[in-house]
Amino acid sequence: MPSGRYIFFVLFFLLLRVLCRLLCHSSMTHTALGNAAMLNAPKHIDYYAKFSPSPLSMKQFLDFGSTNACEKTSFAFLRQELPVRLSNSLKEINLLPDQLIMTQSVQLVHSWFVQSLMDILEFQDKSPNDPKVLAGFVDTLVTIRNRHNDVVPTMAQGVIEYRDAFGADPLTSQNIQYFLDRFYMNRISMRMLINQHTLIFDGSTKPGHPSSIGCIDSCCDVTNVISDAYECAKMLCEQYYLGSPELELREINAKNKSQPIEISYVPSHLYHMVFELFKNAMRATIENHETSSTLPPIKVMVALGGEDLSIKISDRGGGVPFRKIDRLFSYMYSTAPRPTIVRHFPQAGFGYGLPTSRLYARYFQGDLQLYPMEGYGTDAVIQLKALSTDSVEKLPVFNQTALRHYKFNQEADDWCVPSKEPLNLAAYKAAK
Ligand SMILES: Nc1ncnc2c1ncn2[C@@H]1O[C@H](COP(=O)(O)OP(=O)(O)OP(=O)(O)O)[C@@H](O)[C@H]1O
Ligand SMILES: [Mg+2]
Repeated sequence: MPSGRYIFFVLFFLLLRVLCRLLCHSSMTHTALGNAAMLNAPKHIDYYAKFSPSPLSMKQFLDFGSTNACEKTSFAFLRQELPVRLSNSLKEINLLPDQLIMTQSVQLVHSWFVQSLMDILEFQDKSPNDPKVLAGFVDTLVTIRNRHNDVVPTMAQGVIEYRDAFGADPLTSQNIQYFLDRFYMNRISMRMLINQHTLIFDGSTKPGHPSSIGCIDSCCDVTNVISDAYECAKMLCEQYYLGSPELELREINAKNKSQPIEISYVPSHLYHMVFELFKNAMRATIENHETSSTLPPIKVMVALGGEDLSIKISDRGGGVPFRKIDRLFSYMYSTAPRPTIVRHFPQAGFGYGLPTSRLYARYFQGDLQLYPMEGYGTDAVIQLKALSTDSVEKLPVFNQTALRHYKFNQEADDWCVPSKEPLNLAAYKAAK
């Protein structure tokens, strides 16, 4: 028989656990969803989600940072625009499948978005003429940027949890793909706005490149960025595979043959895209030539025309069947735990290299496509706008069309689906 003291300890321990849970829960909801103002969050989300985001052109971004840069204008723009972009994303989260919304990961991401919205709303009635307000705004933006650092892996975790528990029917996969493309694109755009404001107006002197304005380089040397990305991918590749394919780089500046290719762009975005493509090309090349003594080089062609800047990265890594192309860009497919993960580069992530790189390309109205030749190799092509006036943010907007996409895309396909069973032609035999 347990003694009275023992029962007391057990009860005390259980009570402690319950208290701890309650405290943890309330502190989570309190830090995340905070004070009484949080109760009004849905009202604010409804209000700001009614606005369409205002896309900025590269030129406008550059103007914010030019010599007559006005911190007050940027402050006034951002305190309206960031709530609009956050609320548009928050509205769309609600259209995900309930079981996905209810995962701890998606709840966490949701709470970060609500918290950041409320942080910015604190500035709605404050005066742009008060330097303390402006300094406080920069600090708040830095806090928001840090808070959102792990949004991509946390969302990916939610998708994995959902997929493990409920599988992935084509309709849900399609909706999640649609959602994540828009959600991550909006995230890229918000980080861009925050980075520009904090880099330009944080009060420090910039040792950076003279042509840089925030994170944009108005004379971004494209082949330099490509070479840097290649060197970094090569280093990782050699650490892992003890070898790497060479690079053959050619450039054609059709506008000015003797000049290097330069455009106004965000070097870190360009670096991200080509680095991901190099990693993929190197892995494919090495794995497709395991038995040969030499590796075919990765060939890169850069061309600048009147409108387009095109980068083609060609490898001889054996390609992939054309049928699988969509899958390579799929978040739902990639996040499936894969047994091959140990064969990946050490930095291999969720299999998001291609879809996120395509978003970076599309963000300023470009694109990224893969053209495989199964049995031979792959051409990966990045298209960017050469003119800063054409480089305008591509942003999702939460409206009726988006809503319809989630609600009504289960309609029947308007192309015939070939039957898997052989057609029984006997039924068509003319009656004798
Ligand atoms: N150049 C290529 N040649 C052959 N297959 C490729 C090539 N590029 C991509 N793939 C295929 O597409 C898949 C998805 O590529 P992606 O870059 O999105 O993810 P990953 O490389 O698997 O992981 P991560 O990029 O996150 O480290 C790859 O796993 C690979 O099977
Ligand atoms: Mg990759």
